[in-house]
Amino acid sequence: MNPLGVSFCGVRLRNPTVLASGVLGITAAQLKRAEDGGAGAVTTKSIGPEERAGNRNPTCVALQHGMLNAMGLPSPGYEAMEAEWRQLKKMKVPVFASIYGASVDDFRRVAAYVAERKPALIELNISCPNTAEHGQVFGFEPSVAADVVEAAKDICGKVPLSVKLTPNTYKIAAVARACEEAGADAICAINTVAGMAINIEARKPVLSFKKGGYSGPAIKPIAVRCVYDIYETVDIPVLGVGGITTGRDAIEMMQAGATAVGIGSAVYYRGPNVFKHVCDEMRDWMRCNGFSSVKSLVGAAHD
Ligand SMILES: Cc1cc2nc3c(=O)[nH]c(=O)nc-3n(C[C@H](O)[C@H](O)[C@H](O)COP(=O)(O)O)c2cc1C
Repeated sequence: MNPLGVSFCGVRLRNPTVLASGVLGITAAQLKRAEDGGAGAVTTKSIGPEERAGNRNPTCVALQHGMLNAMGLPSPGYEAMEAEWRQLKKMKVPVFASIYGASVDDFRRVAAYVAERKPALIELNISCPNTAEHGQVFGFEPSVAADVVEAAKDICGKVPLSVKLTPNTYKIAAVARACEEAGADAICAINTVAGMAINIEARKPVLSFKKGGYSGPAIKPIAVRCVYDIYETVDIPVLGVGGITTGRDAIEMMQAGATAVGIGSAVYYRGPNVFKHVCDEMRDWMRCNGFSSVKSLVGAAHD
C-alpha cells in the first residue's frame, strides 16, 4: 500500500501534495515541472473569459516572511487554450483547472468550455484580491458565492467542482457551507491574504498595483485556522493551502482537516522538487510517529 496515496473528491492522488494555482503558470510545459518534482496533482493558473495582460511590473516581491503579489490574473483567455489542452491531457498526474470570471455568466462560460476538456477537477477562483474587478467580491458573502457555484455546478457534469476561498473575510466557514449547499464537491482554502509593502525611501508602494496578496510561511497559521473552521462546518473534502513549505507543515494542515495540501510559494523557496521533499519529510514523520497511512491524519487535531 502507498502510505501517501489519497482520494480527493474521487480523484486518486499518488500523494497529497498539489501544485497551487498560479505559481508555475498555465502551460503543460510549466506544470510538468511540478509533476516531475513529485506533485500528486497540478492546478493551472486561473483561466479567464478573455485575454488579459495582468498588472504592470513590479507584480511580485519577496518579503522577509513571505511573498506579496498582484499579478492581476494574466490569462490568454479560455478560447486560446485549445492547443494547450491537448498537451495538458498528456500529463500523468491529475490536472485541476482553475477558472475565474467577473460575473456569474463569465464563470458559466469558462466552466462550460473547461468542463468539456474533462480536467480531473474544476476550481472556481472566487477569491483573487489582485484586480480591480475580478473575483474577490464573490468570495466575501455566502449567498453571492453560492450563486456562482450553483451556476457552474449545472454545467460541470461529472467533473468535480471545488471552490477556492479568500481568508479576507470573517465569514469563511459560512461561505464554505453556502458553497457546499449550492453543490460544491470540495473547498480549497486559502487564497492569498490582503497585504501591502511600501518603499520608504521612494515613499511609494512597492507593487505597481499598490496592494497585493501575501503568501508563504507567514500565512500558515491563518490558513490552518481557516481549514480547521471549515472542516468543522462542512462534510466535503478540503484542499489546505497557505504557507506549506515542509512535511511538518503539510501534516499540520492535514491534522487541521485537509485531505490534500496545496503548495505555492514554496516552489519559489525550495524549487520544483519541493513536492518530493515534502513527501519524504511526511514519510519520515509518519514512520517516527507510528502512522501507516496519511489518511488517518486528516482532522486528527479535532476533538
Ligand atoms: C505569484 C502567485 C500567483 C498566484 N496566482 C493565482 C491564481 O491565478 N489563481 C489562484 O486561485 N490563486 C493564485 N495564487 C494563490 C496561490 O494558489 C495560493 O493560494 C497562495 O499563494 C497561498 O499558498 P502559498 O502560501 O503556498 O503560496 C497565486 C499565488 C502567487 C504567489
